[in-house]
Amino acid sequence: MKKVFSEVVEQGQITVGPEERLCPYIIRVLDPGDIERVLQLQDHVIGDLTCKEYYVPIPETELRFILAGGGESLGLFIQDRMYAACSLLFEVDYKQNMARELDFNDAELAQVAQFELSLVDPDLRGHKLQCKLAGILDRRLAKRGTSRYLFTTVSPFNYASVQTVTSLGLQIAKVAKMYFDWDRYVVYKDLIQPIQLDTANAISIANTSLTRQKKLLRDGYRGFSQCRDEDGIKILYAKMI
Ligand SMILES: CC(C)(COP(=O)(O)OP(=O)(O)OC[C@H]1O[C@@H](n2cnc3c(N)ncnc32)[C@H](O)[C@@H]1OP(=O)(O)O)[C@@H](O)C(=O)NCCC(=O)NCCS
Repeated sequence: MKKVFSEVVEQGQITVGPEERLCPYIIRVLDPGDIERVLQLQDHVIGDLTCKEYYVPIPETELRFILAGGGESLGLFIQDRMYAACSLLFEVDYKQNMARELDFNDAELAQVAQFELSLVDPDLRGHKLQCKLAGILDRRLAKRGTSRYLFTTVSPFNYASVQTVTSLGLQIAKVAKMYFDWDRYVVYKDLIQPIQLDTANAISIANTSLTRQKKLLRDGYRGFSQCRDEDGIKILYAKMI
């Protein structure tokens, strides 16, 4: 099959491996021809996961749909090998729509986009690549102007992912049991009218204290940041203004 030219969105250099070899990379928009490489990266990352609860695999049919234009995906490549991938679904059907967790009405559900996949090869962890790829997709979505809400779900114990979503301005709006009865934060941001928080009076809570977090959410708080100290990982909550 003839390879379609894919848009390159960034080029640079990155250090790889224990010997910190400096290698050139590109980040480009993925197309349907990349499906096998994304699935292989997904298998590789899942095989390496110590905690399977962190990541729910994307079904091949959904990935195909996104790569065919139902969303946008980015991949980071060194030479021809894909080291990281991130996907966004532009329009989300009712069944999959995470905003149902927050009782959004039909008109609101129609304005939801979702992050559906985020993978970094263990060989290249620690460069904030998840944040880089998700950040590019977030900015491109805002420019596209077709969605109002950006959603995803994250395990409260997936430190890197909570770090990524909160740094992009997505707020924890619910703690729920999802998928295989796993704990999940439902996080989102309103791209048009961002929710303002009283961050001057923030409350910090251990990420493991889910009951206390649920109570704060019921009382009109949102989780907006994460930090780590000698006692463990904390989530910062502040009241909606
Ligand atoms: C989540 C993931 C994409 C992040 O990879 P990354 O972009 O290389 O991570 P970062 O460089 O942003 O790391 C951020 C922080 O998390 C830590 N971290 C990264 N991966 C980690 C892991 N697997 N376990 C524990 N800590 C991890 C880093 O040390 C870093 O800590 P710091 O901010 O205190 O320095 C990657 O770990 C991964 O592919 N995980 C499996 C799949 C997954 O969980 N996907 C997301 C589902 S929502």
